[in-house]
Amino acid sequence: MLKIAVLVSGGGTNLQAIMDAIDSGKIRDTQIVSVISNKADAYALERARLHGIAARAVVKKDYPSPEEFHAALTEAIDEAAPDLIVLAGFLLVLPEALVKKYSGRIINIHPSLIPSFCGNGFYGLRVHEAVLKRGVKVTGATVHFVDEGTDTGPIIAQKAVEVKEGDTPEVLQRRVMEEAEWIILPQVIDGIAAGRIKMGGAE
Ligand code: GRF
Repeated sequence: MLKIAVLVSGGGTNLQAIMDAIDSGKIRDTQIVSVISNKADAYALERARLHGIAARAVVKKDYPSPEEFHAALTEAIDEAAPDLIVLAGFLLVLPEALVKKYSGRIINIHPSLIPSFCGNGFYGLRVHEAVLKRGVKVTGATVHFVDEGTDTGPIIAQKAVEVKEGDTPEVLQRRVMEEAEWIILPQVIDGIAAGRIKMGGAE
């Protein structure tokens, strides 16, 4: 059984896609052991609670220093003892020590075809605003392993999505979620649970 901890910051639609895929059997042999958010009011936490999954917030401003916040976040993850950490709409860069500790066992969903429109400052709607501004005809989503950089780890899966005439950032974001993110993230998790996709780091 693959135990996963899901880190979230917002609405939690990718978390919902994972929960639904586990319930429908699209993701096999997997259990969400914890949902952790850096925002106490993230609706993703409510989605987890409605699903009977342990959910908690670890909020930076509640700690006197970034180091103590990082320690609390790491402790919350360690307590869940996950095999895999899934960043699903998580908007903070993980502390380097945490990335090293879980090296090869952290994946992230990014709403573009990396290496386009990624890196510092490219998150949420900003990604789709940049896509529309550049005028590309195809965008999509990427699932990748997390390394010490931002959106720089090894790519695991990608899915292309057409940019349509008259798209607004909101309309395009929704299409990328529906047609790409909510499909490839569950597929990758199922692949890891089945051993088709190999995790790195400590065996
Ligand atoms: C989405 O744009 C997703 O691509 C990005 O974070 C945003 C919110 O995702 N990773 P969610 O609805 O909280 O899963």
